Amino acid sequence: MAIGENGHLYIGGCDTTELATEYGTPLFVYDEQLLRDTIRGYHNAFRKTGASYRVTYASKAFCTVAMCQLAAEEDCAIDVVSGGELYTALAAGVDPSRIYMHGNNKTEDELEYAVSSGIGAIVVDNFNEIELISQVAERHHKTVDVMLRISPGVEAHTHEHISTGQQDSKFGFDLALGQAAEALRLVAASPRLSCIGLHVHIGSQIFDTAGFTISVERLVDLYASGVKLGLPFTVLNLGGGFGIRYTDEDDPEPVDRLISEMVDTVRSHFSARGVTEPSVWIEPGRSVVGPAGTTLYRAGSKKEIPGVRNYVAIDGGMTDNPRFALYGAKYEALVANRATAVAGGAWTIAGKCCESGDLVARDALLAEPATGDVIAVFATGAYNYSMASHYNRLPHPAVVFVKDGEAKVVVERETWADVARQDRPLR
Ligand code: LLP
Repeated sequence: MAIGENGHLYIGGCDTTELATEYGTPLFVYDEQLLRDTIRGYHNAFRKTGASYRVTYASKAFCTVAMCQLAAEEDCAIDVVSGGELYTALAAGVDPSRIYMHGNNKTEDELEYAVSSGIGAIVVDNFNEIELISQVAERHHKTVDVMLRISPGVEAHTHEHISTGQQDSKFGFDLALGQAAEALRLVAASPRLSCIGLHVHIGSQIFDTAGFTISVERLVDLYASGVKLGLPFTVLNLGGGFGIRYTDEDDPEPVDRLISEMVDTVRSHFSARGVTEPSVWIEPGRSVVGPAGTTLYRAGSKKEIPGVRNYVAIDGGMTDNPRFALYGAKYEALVANRATAVAGGAWTIAGKCCESGDLVARDALLAEPATGDVIAVFATGAYNYSMASHYNRLPHPAVVFVKDGEAKVVVERETWADVARQDRPLR
C-alpha cells in the first residue's frame, strides 16, 4: 500500500479512487502480491525447520475460484467444509488429492461428492461420520483416508464464538472423556477407512501460542496409541487460527517464530515419547487473506449528534462485513481519496442495512468524511466476502485482485436481478 502524489491510496500499484469509480462500491480489493508473499512466508518458515510439513489454505476465510487457484499455485493444499467449497476448489482445478474436508455435520451428499471426487482426506468429526463415511466408501469400493478431529479441552484466548478447542464445543472427539480413544479403535476396525493422523483446531484470531503447545502435549499419547494400533499415522494437523493485526491492539507473532515454536514443540514431545516425528500440517485462513483485503465504500449520508457520536454511512455494511455485529470486531479505515488528510475525529462507519447494530467500525479515527468520498476499511480479506449476506436484498460486491498496477475482476458484482434469481412467483 502506498499514498500517491495525488493523495490517493494505492494498493498493488492501483489508485483505489479509480478502482472505486471503475468497478463500483462496495468493492473488495486484494493485494495479490501480499497474498503470495504471505503464503511463501509460511513455506520459508517451515523450510528453515527442516520438518516435513504441509500448508493447507482454509478456504472458508475467502473461497473463490481465483483464490483457490492462487493458493494451489503457491503450493498450498485446500481445506473445504462443504459441498459448495469443494465445488469451488474443484472448479479452480485444484488437484483433488490435495483437498481436505472438514465439518461437524457433513451430509451424505457432501461425503458422496468428496469420496467420488477422490479428495485427499476427510477429517472425521464425530461417531456418526465414522459410520457414514464407511458406508459411502463401501459403495464406491474405495478406502478413504481420514484424520480424526480431536477436541483437546484447550481454551484459546479469543472471542467465544470463534473458540473451538474447549471441552464444551460442537467440534471433534473429546479427549478427556475417552471419546477420542474410542474413535481411534473404531476407525482402526473399519476396513474402508485409513486413518493418517490427528487434527486439532482450537480457535481463530489467536495470539497466545500456549494453546498450540498444550494441544501437542495432550495429543502425543493418543497419537502414540494410534501408532500402536497399527494405524498408518504420519500427520499431526494443528489447524489454523493465527491472529492478524486489525488495529494497534493486535500484536501477531512473526510467522518464523510461530512455526519454529510449533515444530520444536512437536519434535520434543514426540521424541520424548519415542514416536516418529509426524509431518506437521497447518490450516491458516485469516492470516493468509485477511491483511491482503481492503473494502472500498462510497460515503453517503452523515449524521452528527453533538456530544454523542458522528456517523458516516456507507453503501455496504453488515452484508459484506458482519464481523462487528457478530464479534464486536474492530477495524481501521481511511478516506482513500484524501489519504494524507489529518484525522479530524472519531467517525462511526455505519452500514445501510435496517439494523442499528449494522456498523463496520465504531469511532474510527478519520479525516472528516464528505459525501462521495471513498472510504477504505483495512484487513477485510478474511470472513467478510465469505460471510456476506443478502440482507435487505443487497447484492454481493465485486472482488478484484490488484498487482503491478493492474486490476483483475475475480468475482463479478451481483445485480438486483441476481438477488431475486431463484425467486418464483406465487401465481
Ligand atoms: N481449520 C479449521 C478446522 C477451522 O475451523 C478454521 C476456522 C480454520 C482452519 C482457519 O482458521 P483461521 O486461520 O482462519 O483463523 N468467522 C470467524 C472465524 C471462524 C473460523 C472458523 N474456523 C471470524 O470472522 O472471525
